[in-house]
Amino acid sequence: MRAPEIRQKFLDYFISRGHSQLPSSPLVSDDPTLLLTNAGMNQFKPVFLGEVTPASPRATTVQKCVRTVDIENVGRTTRHVTFFEMLGNFSFGDYFKPEVISYAWEVLTEVYQLPPDRLWVTVYLDDDEAVEVWRRIGVPADRIQRLGWADNYWSMGVPGPCGPSSEICYDRGPAYGEPGGPAVNDERYLELWNLVFMQNIRGEGGDKDGFAVVGELPRRNIDTGLGLDRLAIILQDVESITQTDLLAPTFEVVEDLVGRRFPGHDGTEASVSYQVVVDHARTIAFLIADGVLPSNEGSGYVLRRLMRRAIRHAQSLGVTDLVLPTITTSVVDNLARGVAGTGIGEVADRAGQRP
Ligand code: ALA
Repeated sequence: MRAPEIRQKFLDYFISRGHSQLPSSPLVSDDPTLLLTNAGMNQFKPVFLGEVTPASPRATTVQKCVRTVDIENVGRTTRHVTFFEMLGNFSFGDYFKPEVISYAWEVLTEVYQLPPDRLWVTVYLDDDEAVEVWRRIGVPADRIQRLGWADNYWSMGVPGPCGPSSEICYDRGPAYGEPGGPAVNDERYLELWNLVFMQNIRGEGGDKDGFAVVGELPRRNIDTGLGLDRLAIILQDVESITQTDLLAPTFEVVEDLVGRRFPGHDGTEASVSYQVVVDHARTIAFLIADGVLPSNEGSGYVLRRLMRRAIRHAQSLGVTDLVLPTITTSVVDNLARGVAGTGIGEVADRAGQRP
């Protein structure tokens, strides 16, 4: 299933269940605590905090996100990227745990037809209610794992809304490592969807891995994020994000520039470099499309760092010509074809009117 269909099926499912489809917010966030938009819920933070009344109690989005915390893992794992699209459904004081778990299960097993016996779930340590709902749906007890703050309690990484979460992971099989579930192996048990039971407020500091819960939100909300790129890995039966239709055309352009085919995920520096160049090309294109320019600070510094890394990795593959215009143009071409970015609003429109 190609990326445009994956997006549309998600949106159609939630629209048919009373959710309003809202546009992706820009990558440059108006939240002073954030450098760049990094999750679907960012634009709803004031709603969760009770500062703004939403037009509708249910929303669904395809949100463009940039996260650079895992930048060193790009190309070293099959699942890390610096730009991705997050499919999300949100409840603002409307439905809660049982409903969101049922929705997510139905979407994965019926809409996308993933085999139920390949799905594992994790829940926050003391969340007996989530375990009970998963058991009722039919997930066996030995495929439900309880994890702590670091894995199953979500916040934006700064003071603000937060809550326990439940993640749904897909078992890619023994070729990807040892058994034992997501608690022991992130590469084999690929995290696809994070369901956050957004009910608390995170404060400064704290003794739980630096985490302090300082209060409750005015209402209990739902925030979810299903990684489009990761779901595409499974539905397109490829090994890594860079091989999905979201990035494959850019990958081919990089191979042509280098003059050699990708060696595969063999852990060599060359293998890493191909994927860094492909990943960073996309992030660079989306950042520039949203008005970021390279500079010494803030989001401009993130962009500059990505450009330098892309150039350095291209050089290490033997490419000495100007590389960024060619690879970022291939991202824009893929956008214009409706693959990378369809449905995420104004960037796709702008890509349609190529300079
Ligand atoms: N906000 C949650 C996340 O980004 C869904 O994982």
